[in-house]
Amino acid sequence: MHGRVRDDPFSLLMTGAGRRDPYACYRRLRAQGPLSRSTSGVWAVTGHRLCGRVLRDRRFGVRNGPYVRDDSEPLAYRPGAEADFSLLSLDPPDHGRVRRLAAPAFSPKMMARYRPGIERITRELLDRAAARGRFDLMAKVAAPLPIAVISELLGIPDEHAGPFREYGAVVAGSLDGVPSLRTARALGPATRALEELFADLLRQRAARPGQDVLSRLAADLGAARVSPREVLSLCRVLLIAGFETTVNLIGNGMLALLDHPDQWAMLRANPDMAGQVVEEVLRYDPPVQATLRYAQEDLYLAGRRIAAWDPLYVLIGATGRDPSVFTGPDRFDITRTRGADHLAFGSGPHYCLGAPLARLEGEIFFRTVATRLPGLVRAGEPEHRSTMTVRGLARLPVRPG
Ligand code: HEM
Repeated sequence: MHGRVRDDPFSLLMTGAGRRDPYACYRRLRAQGPLSRSTSGVWAVTGHRLCGRVLRDRRFGVRNGPYVRDDSEPLAYRPGAEADFSLLSLDPPDHGRVRRLAAPAFSPKMMARYRPGIERITRELLDRAAARGRFDLMAKVAAPLPIAVISELLGIPDEHAGPFREYGAVVAGSLDGVPSLRTARALGPATRALEELFADLLRQRAARPGQDVLSRLAADLGAARVSPREVLSLCRVLLIAGFETTVNLIGNGMLALLDHPDQWAMLRANPDMAGQVVEEVLRYDPPVQATLRYAQEDLYLAGRRIAAWDPLYVLIGATGRDPSVFTGPDRFDITRTRGADHLAFGSGPHYCLGAPLARLEGEIFFRTVATRLPGLVRAGEPEHRSTMTVRGLARLPVRPG
């Protein structure tokens, strides 16, 4: 391995070894203090308190250039749109305007409405997978569950589910900071196809509104509360956030439970602990490991001078293992009561909009698996994906026991 890479924990994160065990890299980075600078000039924030401060501080934004809203564009794909991540690419005040339009879909009232449907899908997926003995938990349950839920929430008709799944899977890969060459090539055409499908559905819902999110967004577009580009990017981001994150909460959590039989036994004995499992997994092995911010002005942070437009990696994955906040941070312990303090959903204005839905899906999954498949065991080696921002499994072979 190149000397510079081996000696720089931040560069090491990008290598195969770093992706297999990012927590070892975070430990080395933390030894340099809560804020360090990599040999490539990128700032890395590892401390829990400092990460929280950066995420809440208006002097850091998600953009490194101005934003111009354009209402004259048609409701259609625009080349280059794949780099636009809607809320995740907007700073105040545009960020708040667009966020308010999507927020009602994630209200407590809506969560109560989604619950029975999520319980039914979870039961069906688990029963069907287990009926054949050994199965891959990722392919058979962890991935299809959130995809079915977000498709229902948005209001994607069953006959379009196939194409949405296909293009959504390609576009979801782009959420990671380091997409593979194959994903990069397929990204433009898949984004175009996905946005054309959304544009068609938005036009249909404008004419015949229903109760779903697309109908509400079609009305917002009609009233010029959102531009055509903004609404297409928002739909795409909601879809890929639904595709790419909860799947790994389920996978990372199930792996942690199976690797810690005492914790798995505790959940089986008391399925009401499912909510605590969710919080502990989010602290211990979070699906989103990092996010990026740009300093909006010259400033000082933790005694270091940061220049305007410098990028900072906020290493969320490191914050859950910060020993100054969590005792015995490398121990997976579902009885922890401080789990809710993790930063797995971020903090500040970009705090995860889908957090209530992710928590609901996770809680239902862990409760259902503990009651319906209490004998579940590993049936082969799990395989991690080669992504860095999003951490999760490609395969988790299990059998019902
Ligand atoms: C366990 C599952 C999930 C995790 C770990 C997660 C994590 C995150 C994190 C860390 C952020 C903040 C990013 C930043 O500050 O740069 C975020 C934002 C966001 N998440 Fe999630 N997420 C999850 C599930 C979901 C789901 C199911 C949805 C919706 C379907 C969703 C929708 C969003 C949206 C729209 C934002 C942008 C919010 C904004 O910028 O205002 N997430 N998520």
